[in-house]
Amino acid sequence: MPIRLCVFDAYGTLFDVAAAARSAAAEPGAEGWAARWPTLSANWRRKQLEYTWLRAVAGAHVDFWQVTQDALDWALEVERLADPVLRQRLLDLYHELAAFPEVPGVLAALKARGMQVAILSNGAPPMLEAAARSAGIAPLLNAILSVEDVGVYKPHPSVYGLVGTRFGTEPGEVAFVSSNGWDACAAAAFGFHAIWANRDGAPLDRLPGSPAHVLPDLGALPALLAKG
Ligand code: LAC
Repeated sequence: MPIRLCVFDAYGTLFDVAAAARSAAAEPGAEGWAARWPTLSANWRRKQLEYTWLRAVAGAHVDFWQVTQDALDWALEVERLADPVLRQRLLDLYHELAAFPEVPGVLAALKARGMQVAILSNGAPPMLEAAARSAGIAPLLNAILSVEDVGVYKPHPSVYGLVGTRFGTEPGEVAFVSSNGWDACAAAAFGFHAIWANRDGAPLDRLPGSPAHVLPDLGALPALLAKG
C-alpha cells in the first residue's frame, strides 16, 4: 500500500524540548542554576510524560499545557528553584521551542514530492500552533491533530485513530515518525508504517509493536520514504 501521508510526533521529534531550559540557562541572572539545566530539563520532560500516562490510566484527563506546568513545578522543586519569574520564562520559551535543524528541509522535501504532512501530538492545539508558527513550519503542515479531540493521551489507540478520521486513510497508507520509542511502537501496533527517530541512541522499548525503521534523526526520511 503506497504511503501518502507522513505524520509526525511533535515534542522531541520536530521540536527540541530541551531548548527551553537550555535557553533560559544562558540568560543573564541564571548563573546560580545554569549548570543544572540538563537535570531540570530531563526531569521536566520525564514528569510531563509520566503525568500523561498516569492521567490516561486514571481517566483524569487535563490538557497538555496543564500537564506541562505541573511537571515543571515538580522539576523546579527538585532543584529548589520555585521562582515565579523563572517558571514563567520557561513556560514562555516552551511556546517557541526551536525545531531540530533538519526539520524544515525534511518537511519541504516530503511536500515537494506530493506527500501530505501532519502533526499528531499530545500537545494542546494552541501550544502546537504556537510552536509550529515560531519554528516557521506551519505553512508546510496539512494538519495539526491533537489528543484533545479524544481526551486521552498517547499511546491510547483512539489517538492514532484521529489520522484516519481526518484524512480518510487506512493505517497502512500512513508513515508515522516519532523520536519517542514507546510512541513509535504503539503506532506500529496500530498498523502505521512506524519510523523511530532514535535521537538519543536508546534501546528499543519492550512493548507491543516494532518500528519498521530506526533512524538517528529525520535527515534520511525523504530518501527512506522515496523507496516506498
Ligand atoms: C507528543 C509527545 C509524546 O508530542 O512528545 O505527543
